[in-house]
Amino acid sequence: MNRGSKAAVLVTGGAGYIGAHTAKALHERGLLPVVYDNLSSGFRDAVRWGPLVHGDVRDRVALGEAMAAYDVAAVIHFAGLIEVGRSTARPDLFWEINVAGVTSLLTVMRERGVGRLVFSSSAAVYGQGGRGPLEAIPEDAPKAPASPYGDTKLAAEWMIAAQCRAYGLTAVALRYFNAAGADPSGAIGEAHEPETHLIPLAIAAALGDGPPLTVFGQDFDTPDGTCLRDYIHVNDLAAAHVAALDADLPRGAFEAVNVGTGRGSSVAEVVKAVGRAAGRPVPHSLGPRRAGDPPSLVADPAKARRLLGWSPTCSGLDRIVADALRWERDPGYGSGVRGSAGRRKSPVAA
Ligand code: UFG
Repeated sequence: MNRGSKAAVLVTGGAGYIGAHTAKALHERGLLPVVYDNLSSGFRDAVRWGPLVHGDVRDRVALGEAMAAYDVAAVIHFAGLIEVGRSTARPDLFWEINVAGVTSLLTVMRERGVGRLVFSSSAAVYGQGGRGPLEAIPEDAPKAPASPYGDTKLAAEWMIAAQCRAYGLTAVALRYFNAAGADPSGAIGEAHEPETHLIPLAIAAALGDGPPLTVFGQDFDTPDGTCLRDYIHVNDLAAAHVAALDADLPRGAFEAVNVGTGRGSSVAEVVKAVGRAAGRPVPHSLGPRRAGDPPSLVADPAKARRLLGWSPTCSGLDRIVADALRWERDPGYGSGVRGSAGRRKSPVAA
């Protein structure tokens, strides 16, 4: 995007975890993040770097009005449902919001002549992993989503790619590996309801704010028997979105790009890292495997480096855990999510 101008970028789902961190990165890049969010799972207090438009992605009229009001030059689309388990119980909802929501967005973008999109995709499109059990996953690895959530992300990618070819839209789908950590300022961080992710649950257990952690499975074909994941600091992820907007791509291009580090950390390593950072061990027990968990999901990040000029700068496991711990000890909002109400601090003015 044009450097130096205060161009507006519509950030759907910008009141959520990754969206809020990306809004901050857009602001730091000199752009105006216009957050478009229905606040169904996001937080008003997470919107600090530009205006909030309250709206649903399926509402074409409201979307069009928001794009017109701010003369939006590009869209980053985060709004969607993310809980893998719930997607099995309510696939209809996931298709309605994650796929029909994208149809709605693309239609309005076309009507309004907005030609640039960055889309939140997921490593969930790969299903059980790469070609070999512990191999890093390149973008052209087989796609075999293991959940309706992964299906909807892949279907949305296909739809976006087709509209790039048909209408000259330029789009990048970022396939996130395991987003984690928080902004070091402590202003924004991870707050999900319900929380299902390893690092916040391990921290809550260590701080006594949640039940002991259950480690899901110790008999995987991995070096220590627990699952390997590629944890990426949310600020590195946010930077990847800015790089995707800035990337010099021809009109009509569609690119899917992994966002990960290329390094895997095991669940046991994460539990140890959280214990080190918290200064006390994480209370935990060993449980059976969780249905659908692949043994290893590690990105091959070469394309992100080559195409976007992006590589992670703050995704070491200890740094991720330290930043996440700072946030969990003193969350700026969403602090009731894991029963830690009482430590809530007042939101900082935008
Ligand atoms: N884990 C535990 N105990 C817990 C929670 C998680 O042992 O209480 C383990 C899981 O089995 C897994 C690892 O910690 O091995 C990471 O689990 P997360 O739930 O934190 O993350 P996932 O890898 O399951 O999910 C991530 C993204 C999803 C995405 C999915 C794609 O968060 O949005 O990858 O496979 F859909």
